[in-house]
Amino acid sequence: MKRLGVLLSGRGSNFRALLAATREGRLAAEIAVVVSNVSDAPGLAHARAAGLPAFFFDHRGRTRDEHDAEVGRVLAAHAADLVCLAGYMRLLGRAFVEAHAHRVVNIHPSLLPAFPGRAAQRQALDYGVRVTGATVHLVDAGLDTGPIVAQRTVPVEAGDTEESLSERILALEHQLYPEAVERLTSETWRIEGRRLIFLAR
Ligand code: GAR
Repeated sequence: MKRLGVLLSGRGSNFRALLAATREGRLAAEIAVVVSNVSDAPGLAHARAAGLPAFFFDHRGRTRDEHDAEVGRVLAAHAADLVCLAGYMRLLGRAFVEAHAHRVVNIHPSLLPAFPGRAAQRQALDYGVRVTGATVHLVDAGLDTGPIVAQRTVPVEAGDTEESLSERILALEHQLYPEAVERLTSETWRIEGRRLIFLAR
């Protein structure tokens, strides 16, 4: 069974969706460790309450590479096969990304390459798009630029606020992320240029 390491910085609802999927048998993997760069992140408290190994590493007062290396050591110590970013609001440095090539996955609340970075839902509203969504992608050294694993759309409704749109996207994220991680951990795939190709079994 594949072992997941989860990195988060906040609420952790995507982490909870992954955990529920593992416990309900929709995702044939186990969460080996949870790491946060925010000491009072609700997601970290939930991980502890769920009995999972959970660690806080402060990124302040260290270089990005030093902090990443600390995170990398705990992931290795818990034998994580795949690292799932779940609202981890820090860029991972090139050294970490290269050491974990094709082993780090992220969920982002837009249809990439539209609206990378922070406040993707606000960016979508401000731009006036009629459709947005969520993207699961492998992480490379860029900002939300790695090969796409899965995407799904949601409509933008007249009268949407950042909150109402974020809520609609989040409900979709909670389905999409466990499904995408299940495919990544159970199927055979390879990368061709920018494309992630699932191979027929
Ligand atoms: C989610 O909407 C996730 O897609 C987004 O942060 C939220 C975290 O919520 N991530 C990013 O914007 C990454 N650039 P959660 O803590 O409840 O999972």
